[in-house]
Amino acid sequence: TNKIAVFASGSGSNFQAIHDAIRNGKLAAELVLVVTDKPDAYVLRRAAAAGVEALALRPQDFISKADYERAILIELHSQGAEWLVLAGYMRLIGPVLLEAYPNRIVNIHPSLLPEFPGKDAIGQTLAAGREEAGVTVHFVDAGMDTGPIIAQRTFRLDNRDRQTVEEAVHRIEHELYPATLQKLFSRQ
Ligand code: GAR
Repeated sequence: TNKIAVFASGSGSNFQAIHDAIRNGKLAAELVLVVTDKPDAYVLRRAAAAGVEALALRPQDFISKADYERAILIELHSQGAEWLVLAGYMRLIGPVLLEAYPNRIVNIHPSLLPEFPGKDAIGQTLAAGREEAGVTVHFVDAGMDTGPIIAQRTFRLDNRDRQTVEEAVHRIEHELYPATLQKLFSRQ
């Protein structure tokens, strides 16, 4: 099977969608680890409820980003993780993890990349007055939301308010991410 580790910093609704897709037989994968940089993140409760191992490490507790990522890597190896799936992990991935998982790290981002990378992509999209918003799944490289695009989904904004747009983005993400992972795994 495809052993995946999900990296998340927040609510973890995308972790949940991936977990549910596996349980429902729509995604052939095994969740071996949740990694978070925020020990109070809600994703940890979801991981516990799902019976998935979790690792919460604060980068501030390490001398360097490389040290922080080496500590993560030890756990990834011990759990046998083959893919790193970023789902609301609000940090750049450094050389330690990039070199350990070449072409095996994916991310989901709430904009039509290459437009609006970085934080608050939905706010950026609305502030720019765009008629369309969207979601992108892409391979991770050293840049901020810059790697090769794997899948993209677009929707019309139609003057919706921010909350409605956020709900639409999440609905799309929860369907697009498991489906895209399934395609990716089946072509390996
Ligand atoms: C998602 O909308 C994801 O696209 C976004 O964070 C949210 C996490 O939600 N990621 C980024 O902005 C990455 N630059 P979740 O914790 O409920 O899955």
